Amino acid sequence: MNVDVVLGLQWGDEGKGKIVDYLAQRYPVIARFQGGPNAGHSLHFDGTSFVLHSVPAGIFRNNTMNIIGNGVVIDPVIFAEECRSLEALGIPVRDRLMISKKAHLILPTHRIIDAASEHSKGASRIGSTLKGISPAYMDKTGRNGIRVGDIIAHDFRDRFLALKSKHIVFLRQFDYAYDADQGEENWLGAIEYMKRFPLIDAEYYLADCLRENKRVLAEGAQGTLLDIDFGSYPYVTSSSTTCAGACTGLGFPPTRVGRVYGIFKAYCTRVGSGPFPTELHDKTGEMLREQGKEFGATTGRPRRTGWLDLVALKYAVTLNGVTDLIMMKADVLDAFDTVKIATSYIIDGKEIGCVPFDTHTPITPVYREFRGWGKNLSAIRKEEELPYQLMAYIRFIEEATGVPVKIISLGPDREQTIIRD
Ligand code: IMP
Repeated sequence: MNVDVVLGLQWGDEGKGKIVDYLAQRYPVIARFQGGPNAGHSLHFDGTSFVLHSVPAGIFRNNTMNIIGNGVVIDPVIFAEECRSLEALGIPVRDRLMISKKAHLILPTHRIIDAASEHSKGASRIGSTLKGISPAYMDKTGRNGIRVGDIIAHDFRDRFLALKSKHIVFLRQFDYAYDADQGEENWLGAIEYMKRFPLIDAEYYLADCLRENKRVLAEGAQGTLLDIDFGSYPYVTSSSTTCAGACTGLGFPPTRVGRVYGIFKAYCTRVGSGPFPTELHDKTGEMLREQGKEFGATTGRPRRTGWLDLVALKYAVTLNGVTDLIMMKADVLDAFDTVKIATSYIIDGKEIGCVPFDTHTPITPVYREFRGWGKNLSAIRKEEELPYQLMAYIRFIEEATGVPVKIISLGPDREQTIIRD
């Protein structure tokens, strides 16, 4: 058995939560491979909504084991709050969730460094979620980090204080007021709570699952265009959001990658700073934001909106080796007479079909226009009932990427999902 991977092909917020929750019924094991509480995976079912930040989206399913992999960074306070809310809903979280000992911890001072660093950048700030993600990954790669497995060490508190001291020295370079002790008691309390979860060597656990022919789904966060290597650097997150990140973030070999589910919205959104070639600054952009309820699940920030960018989508499909495309929020385009897809870029007067290295280069997208379908899609449950204009839109994407669109999502609810054979 192989590990199937589900990940975002744009700048995050594609709707991974809904799809992982949907796919979870077919997988006894769901494992999150990167990112941290910067993510906000929204789920809607039985008339309720829930936003997950660190916990994999299989947590609502009976008989599904969820794993937080080594590639993830965990803020114990956010983790504990999330798990307690799930427990309040009657979800037996501790029976359904295990954490890799090799996942790294986000300290309260990581969040301060994140804020101080963003503040110092002024107008060129990244637009970080300020959850301490980048400083935590800096400590990981700088070999200073504290891992989940360390929380049971007898000298854990000393290690914590030693890293906190390093952070205080680091913070001297910034002109930024802070209280280094703020949130510390809470954080240490949350560490005690974390000890109640099974802390495991997840790479061994997953190897056993594969040997026993158990199906495993690797769950990504953010999106390919925010990848630390291939995203619009430096306007990216600090982890590997691509398929390769699933291997390093969970500890299974590339030869065991099975299907790669690439999720994209029928249009584009982005939160935070950075290039967005098809961004719309007009009424159409506002309409996309309103129809699509495009406000951040983690920060509440309004998302930037624009037409689907096929140049970027093809890049993401190639980088990840996507086998199945999943198109989200097609219903958001219901109200538009015309919908557009960017098929190439004009840069310095030349038409190109690839994502340029220089993120500051002015780009003019070349669009292909499609007729809108003038119909409310949200109640449609069968592929045959989809309007031919939408099918033309989908076929164009399939031909350009060479990958079939296997799932079409027409609303936030589990039921509003069309599976294509
Ligand atoms: P950070 O990962 O919080 O440092 O944020 C870096 C960039 O990634 C910022 O532009 C964020 O808005 C963006 N980002 C981080 N996580 C997410 C996410 O889950 N969805 C969408 N954008 C995200």
